[in-house]
Amino acid sequence: MKRALLASLTAIAMAPAVAADPATINWTKIPAATVPLFYPGQSSYEWLLSDKHPGAQGIQANLPCAGCHQGQEKKLGESLVKGGPLEPSPVKGKDATKELKVQAAYDDKNAYLRFQWKTNANKPGIEYPYYRFDGKEWKVYGEPRLNKSVQEGKQVAMYEDRLTLMIDDGKVPGFDKQGCWLTCHTGERDMPNVAAKADAQKVLKKNDVRKYLPASRTNPSDWTTVKSPDEIAKLKAEGGFVDLIQWRAHRSNPVGGVDDGYVLEYRNFDKGKNHFASNMDNEKKVPKFMYDAKKFKSKATTAKDVGKRDPFLITGVNAVPFDPAAGWKEGDMVPRYYLQPAEGSAADNKGAGTWKGGMWTVVITRPLGLANPDDKAFKDGGVYSVGFAVHDDNITTRGHHVSFVKTLGFGAKADIQAVKLK
Ligand code: HEC
Repeated sequence: MKRALLASLTAIAMAPAVAADPATINWTKIPAATVPLFYPGQSSYEWLLSDKHPGAQGIQANLPCAGCHQGQEKKLGESLVKGGPLEPSPVKGKDATKELKVQAAYDDKNAYLRFQWKTNANKPGIEYPYYRFDGKEWKVYGEPRLNKSVQEGKQVAMYEDRLTLMIDDGKVPGFDKQGCWLTCHTGERDMPNVAAKADAQKVLKKNDVRKYLPASRTNPSDWTTVKSPDEIAKLKAEGGFVDLIQWRAHRSNPVGGVDDGYVLEYRNFDKGKNHFASNMDNEKKVPKFMYDAKKFKSKATTAKDVGKRDPFLITGVNAVPFDPAAGWKEGDMVPRYYLQPAEGSAADNKGAGTWKGGMWTVVITRPLGLANPDDKAFKDGGVYSVGFAVHDDNITTRGHHVSFVKTLGFGAKADIQAVKLK
């Protein structure tokens, strides 16, 4: 009797926490916050602290952006999107603002974040550039809208839709005031004084400069002054990084995934294996995979077939190793990236997005209490600073719409309060 009781008590204690099926959450019962996003142009960390920005001293005095710009998202977006000192290559037809509807819930296991926004195009942005055979070589087909080649009509505008969150738990100085702008610097892609590839390789061992935090540099406004690997490792161990969660309509959604990354000295991916990988064999200069003709109807697609069927190339589903002797014709195209199951810390986030009637609805599931050194762990009772962004209509880098920083709370007061599921 006693032993049976003990056994059943142990069973209760050891029963795994119950996780909700995100598909069955009744979202009509969860309050929705509307977060305004706006087109930021090249309003970098450096510009914001320069004498060209009337708010520079306010930022230095630790005032939040919204302290002066509360409710001005529409005004700022409309001013920046049309071109000017902060937008040297305005995109025709680009909308100035977006409304992002955000809902949050959690249980003992996971956080569930639901997002809805309207797309500019009357179709989902699920296409990503391809490799196209020109009779001799495989060359990139399609580029994002900010690129000169697209603006000059030499390339087709093509890039996936994305939804991004940057998250801090209070350990990155200034993120609760300036949010994403802390990471946006001169020298990065599509920003002023973009770094030369050779310089980025010399200083960072990367081909370009991407988001970084001020604390990773001895001079935060000079990307070349990156601190030593030991100092960066110390910052990371102290939690001095922001988590970066990215849902991608082409490169993660088809495999139910959402990227997990972090920003410190660069925009890094978490340890493990990503949902996507390059489909170019850099030695042989040919793709690594082609479509399985038995599953996709043909081994390749062509420009005139783009948009007629799902373009995704997925290992174990419809991808087979590239056959150089398969009789390639000029105009044959295969995706630039293939999809695969993610692994390790890079596989923490799951997601599902559907596009209907001009609107994406995306639900992201992230486990609570993640213990990886490259994650910010969501915890019951925790409040986090979050910046949101949407990349819409075939664009990347700064061509997104972004929010001022908001707070997200789990069982705690915040701009967006997650509801505990019963
Ligand atoms: C102390 C007040 C103050 C703070 C804090 C402040 N700003 Fe400003 N900002 C201004 C003023 C004033 C202007 C000029 C008038 C305007 O465009 O609203 C301005 C202009 C801008 C512009 C240019 C708009 C245009 O049309 O060219 C951008 C972009 C901007 N701010 C972004 C930010 C961001 C992002 C932050 C936070 C990192 C921030 N500001 C913090 C006061 C402030």
